[in-house]
Amino acid sequence: MAIAAASLESMAQTPDAVAVPTPYLAVDLDTMERNIERMQRFYDGKPANIRPHAKTHKCTEIARAQLDAGAVGITCSTTDEVAAMTAAGIPDVLLANVVLDRNRLRSLAQSALRTRVTCAVDSSEAVSRLAAAAREAGARIGVVVDCDVCMGRNGVHDVEVGVAVASQAADEPGLELRGVMAYEGSLLAIEDREERGRAVVDAFTLPVTLLHELRRLGHEAPILTGGATGTYDSTGLLPDMTDVQAGTYVLMDATYGRRTPEFECAIALVATVSTVRRGGRIVVDAGAKRLAAELGHPLLLGYDAEHAGTAEEHTIFQSTGGAVPAAGTRVAVVPAHVCTTMSMYGSARGYRNGAFDHALVIDGRDPLAS
Ligand SMILES: Cc1ncc(COP(=O)(O)O)c(C=O)c1O
Repeated sequence: MAIAAASLESMAQTPDAVAVPTPYLAVDLDTMERNIERMQRFYDGKPANIRPHAKTHKCTEIARAQLDAGAVGITCSTTDEVAAMTAAGIPDVLLANVVLDRNRLRSLAQSALRTRVTCAVDSSEAVSRLAAAAREAGARIGVVVDCDVCMGRNGVHDVEVGVAVASQAADEPGLELRGVMAYEGSLLAIEDREERGRAVVDAFTLPVTLLHELRRLGHEAPILTGGATGTYDSTGLLPDMTDVQAGTYVLMDATYGRRTPEFECAIALVATVSTVRRGGRIVVDAGAKRLAAELGHPLLLGYDAEHAGTAEEHTIFQSTGGAVPAAGTRVAVVPAHVCTTMSMYGSARGYRNGAFDHALVIDGRDPLAS
């Protein structure tokens, strides 16, 4: 991955930053905007478009920038994200997740009173509850039938069940059948890009067949949505695909870099070195409660060092040679997983040309209470 290391490192050293307690999140806005532009240009002149997944940033300001660049709408993973996006005037929101909790469905229906909202379903019960929430609020909610193509979580497994779920939704007055969804996340682990592309075509056999069957039965079903940063250029080229739910590309992280090196890392956690042990063990003041430790290893910028461990409040790097930062030095760390790291913070500091510009409020975060 291209890492604008100098600009990310400088976000740890600007004079204003010294007044801010570590750890804090810092976003290079120029790099982020280049990522948005790069993804959008890929879809120029193609039938599909990007519907960026806001679970990466949970930030209405970033969602607005993605829409202004030309995205067709926004994807969310929680009803809190949907509530924040719709309250901020984001015009077309897909909840790419199945919801059965009645309180969350009530919130979703309120969001649907503000703007066009579409939600994934995968069972008769999900349709019934969504329809009840729409009825109660006097809202109209769009529906896509989710297909499980490799994740082993939400989604129908065959065309017959998909047709039954879709037909039930189409008969509900408060719902509107809009199409089919699938998420092929586990295919992202396939390192070879061409092989990954072939696996995508296979995985989408079920959703594409379901979509065609729905249309044959007379349903409108205009949407086929799915995809991710690692498959935007394969899933995004499937003939029936209308919108691609890539999320991570906008900020990137240490794990994703290998899969789509054309996007640049735009985010770092600024931390303080609290201890340097003999033998070059570097301890920084951000652990698993501040820096996601799943899905790979964080990257210490500016030093030759490997991730050697994570505790609740500490991340440890082992120097592999060269200079070692002194205790007290502020350093920049690229998170292993940007989405889970971002959701631990209420805001991120946005930088331009190495200088603080403004704070990005992470306003789509789930409230921490209850
Ligand atoms: C439903 C869904 N769509 C799309 C994505 C793609 O996100 P990314 O581009 O970050 O891989 C995810 C990731 O978790 C997801 O859960």
